[in-house]
Amino acid sequence: MKTSALSKCQLRSKMFSIIAAIGKNKELGHQGDLIFHIKEDMKYFRDTTNGHKVVMGRKTWESLPGKLPNRKNIVVSCHPVEGADFTITDLEEFIKQNQNTDEEIFIIGGGMIYTSFLDHAKNLYLTEIDTAFRDADTFFPNFDQTKYTKTIIKKGSENDLNYTFAKYTKK
Ligand SMILES: NC(=O)c1ccc[n+]([C@@H]2O[C@H](COP(=O)([O-])OP(=O)(O)OC[C@H]3O[C@@H](n4cnc5c(N)ncnc54)[C@H](OP(=O)(O)O)[C@@H]3O)[C@@H](O)[C@H]2O)c1
Repeated sequence: MKTSALSKCQLRSKMFSIIAAIGKNKELGHQGDLIFHIKEDMKYFRDTTNGHKVVMGRKTWESLPGKLPNRKNIVVSCHPVEGADFTITDLEEFIKQNQNTDEEIFIIGGGMIYTSFLDHAKNLYLTEIDTAFRDADTFFPNFDQTKYTKTIIKKGSENDLNYTFAKYTKK
């Protein structure tokens, strides 16, 4: 009993945190871009990830206007990515090497990268937007909410979009 609990803890990263803004049906993106533009959420993203390493897929990197300032920009791709602080080509190896670090590393998208990190992340910072977006082509992966403790950080409304900043922490 004790051994299996211990090995479960060792397999799970303490320090990968996912951060995403999702619609009612877990919508993430549309044609390579974000769907929802909420200023307060952009500020929340900036404040939460400030000073940390951020990990993103190559497509998300290409959707940005430039490097995210004051953060180490790490991009996942099969090829070296110009302008990034670091390119991860071997994702499994990166996860293995970083899962026991004391540092909080933020996984900032997109869909492919969230899916790869979901099992390894301790925290999910989700901005839950109470609106569906029919044309979305990228979605956040399904996860079992009963395995997490949910904390509501803040609720708000902007441009007719009601949103909740929620933090899910693995039990
Ligand atoms: N709502 C939000 O919070 C949020 C946040 C971020 C992004 N988004 C949206 O999500 C969409 C992009 O998501 P996406 O799923 O299409 O793409 P993505 O996850 O951003 O990037 C996918 C790319 O990452 C690389 N990659 C993924 N797994 C890999 C692995 N195991 N090894 C090596 N490289 C790997 C590949 O790059 P190469 O092809 O170069 O090898 C792949 O094409 C956009 O619409 C974006 O706006 C939304």
